[in-house]
Amino acid sequence: MVTCRGPAGARHGPALARLEVLTSDPAVLLDGDRIAWVGPRREGRDAYSALRTLHSALTEVEVGGVLFPGFVDCHTHGVFGAPRLDDHERRALGEDYKAIGAAGGGILQSVRDVRARPEDQLAALARERLTTLLWHGSTTIEVKSGYGLTTQAELKQLRALQRAARDVPATLVPTFLGAHEVPPEYRGRRADYVRLVCEEMLPAVAGERLARACDVFCEPGVFDIAETRTILTAARRLGLDCKLHADELDESGGAALAAELGARSADHLAAVSPAGIAALAASDTVAVLLPATMTFLGRARQAPARRLVEAGAAVALATDFNPGSSPTISLPLVMALAVSQLGLRHAEAVLAVTVNAAAALGLAADRGQIAAGFRADLVALGVSDWREAAYWMGANLVTDVWTAGSACPSPAVRVSLGFHVEA
Ligand code: NIG
Ligand code: FE
Repeated sequence: MVTCRGPAGARHGPALARLEVLTSDPAVLLDGDRIAWVGPRREGRDAYSALRTLHSALTEVEVGGVLFPGFVDCHTHGVFGAPRLDDHERRALGEDYKAIGAAGGGILQSVRDVRARPEDQLAALARERLTTLLWHGSTTIEVKSGYGLTTQAELKQLRALQRAARDVPATLVPTFLGAHEVPPEYRGRRADYVRLVCEEMLPAVAGERLARACDVFCEPGVFDIAETRTILTAARRLGLDCKLHADELDESGGAALAAELGARSADHLAAVSPAGIAALAASDTVAVLLPATMTFLGRARQAPARRLVEAGAAVALATDFNPGSSPTISLPLVMALAVSQLGLRHAEAVLAVTVNAAAALGLAADRGQIAAGFRADLVALGVSDWREAAYWMGANLVTDVWTAGSACPSPAVRVSLGFHVEA
């Protein structure tokens, strides 16, 4: 059993490699939605008896393989319509991600799609896809809007997510990303779009409690530092957490801005500067790395994970699940990429998808560890060595999932990306 036990906060620097693994007949006691006790089974008799006096019926489950805390996917764009196969093919022919976007493909293609699609269809697609993420081990999944880019279409995406959340036994954590791109109708008057985000979209989202955080794609050619600061300052005033897509493809000081604003996370960072690394290392902002994205885009440059860890930053990993730059549903695949492309150790990769990913969502005191008092979100992998979680690239090793203390019913279709739902 991999417990990830330790402080209830992000692990910085060398602490990221300190992983607790229990090997001699480990057991975990659950009480309702919480973990009551964890340790070697023979030492658990008192805790077990105490629970028995409280509850007449206790259920025992023998788990084969290795038990992990439920994985936390702290960065996805999981509400969208069609896949973007044309973009994929154009990149294979040598076109660049940003050039495809500038020519009206890219994010704006998904925007046209989401604007035209009814809310119930978006909810159905999200339900299928996020259930598939759950059955790859992710029991907590952050999901961003950002393919609407009008007040109504952004609200539609977030409401679709709220509907999907009723049917998916994972915890879905919503983030508002109205500043994902400047929509075509605002080209040439960007300041008006930033004003719309701050004065109309954000109050509507906060008023309906449709998001916990606000994210901005802070990138040369998308939103600059001043615009990002304006939007996130407005978001914070409304009680939302801040997150940034920072220094993804080109450097613009996004990481330093994230640290300065006290953002929960700065995500991507493939082009982060030495000053950005130093700023993150001196802050509580989690550096969320997304190696599947750079791999899928065919980019040689990955985020400088080792330099971030060695500087003392808190490093997390996520899928970035989205139709344009990372159509992967598997955190274990991302862990394998992190070992082979980013130079993380297996122990670091595990803590990066549990404790540190939870910290990127402000949930490190509640989940990411198999420890007393934590939420009983657990995932069993059919392996004999815990390091296999980051080894069998692309295989789905999940055999069982529990969320809030209950076994998740295995869905009729274990893996579905929902294409059959499309009109
Ligand atoms: O994280 N960088 C911006 N957003 C996504 C891509 C979204 C898309 O291409 O649809 C990302 O890579
Ligand atoms: Fe993203």
